[in-house]
Amino acid sequence: MDFSLEKWQPSFAGSVTESANDARVARFLRDSFPYPYTRKNAEDFIAFAQGETERGEYYRAIVVGGKAVGGIAVTRGQDVCRRSGEIGYWLTPACWGKGIMTGAVRTACEEVFENTDIVRVYAEVFAPNAASCRVLEKNGFAKEGIKRKSVFKNGALYDSIVYARIKE
Ligand SMILES: CC(C)(COP(=O)(O)OP(=O)(O)OC[C@H]1O[C@@H](n2cnc3c(N)ncnc32)[C@H](O)[C@@H]1OP(=O)(O)O)[C@@H](O)C(=O)NCCC(=O)NCCS
Repeated sequence: MDFSLEKWQPSFAGSVTESANDARVARFLRDSFPYPYTRKNAEDFIAFAQGETERGEYYRAIVVGGKAVGGIAVTRGQDVCRRSGEIGYWLTPACWGKGIMTGAVRTACEEVFENTDIVRVYAEVFAPNAASCRVLEKNGFAKEGIKRKSVFKNGALYDSIVYARIKE
C-alpha cells in the first residue's frame, strides 16, 4: 500500500485521533499513548512533535490518502546515551499486514542515520508483539536481550525484548 512519511502538522489532528482511538493500537504501547485517544491528546502530541528538529529527533506521520493513519518516531536518549535513539511506531488496524511499517522503519532509520548524529536505534518490544518483532528483524535489527517482567500493562506483566540496529 502506498504511504508517505510527513512532518506533523495541526491539520492531521482529526485523522490521527480517529486512527489512534482503538484499544488494539494501545495494547502493546506505553501508557503515555492513551486509550481512549482524544482530539486534545492529538493536538498536544502534534505540538510536541513539531519541536523535533531542535531536539535532533525524528517524528513523522504515516499518511495514506491524505490522512494520518499512524506515526513513527525516534526519540533521543540523554547524557551518555544521547547518541542512541528509541524507535516507536503504530498504525491503525485497518492498515495492518500490508508492509507499511516495514517500509516506514526502513525509511526512518535511513533518515535518522543520515541527518542526525544518532548511531544506535533501538526498540523495546513487549514479548507477545510478534508482528513488531518481525518488522524489526526484517529491517536488520538484532535481538540483544530480554528484560524479564519489565512491563506492567493493563494489569499484566510482560517480558520486553530489546532490538537494536547500529549505523554502518
Ligand atoms: C506492529 C505493527 C506496527 C505492524 O505494522 P504492519 O504495517 O502491519 O507490519 P508489516 O505489514 O510491515 O509486517 C508485519 C509482519 O509481521 C507478521 N505478523 C503479523 N502478525 C503476526 C503474528 N501474530 N505472529 C507472527 N508474525 C506476525 C506479518 O506476517 C509480517 O511479516 P512478513 O512480511 O514476513 O509476512 C502494527 O501491528 C501496530 O501498529 N500494532 C500496534 C502498535 C504496536 O504494537 N507498535 C509497536 C510497539 S513496539
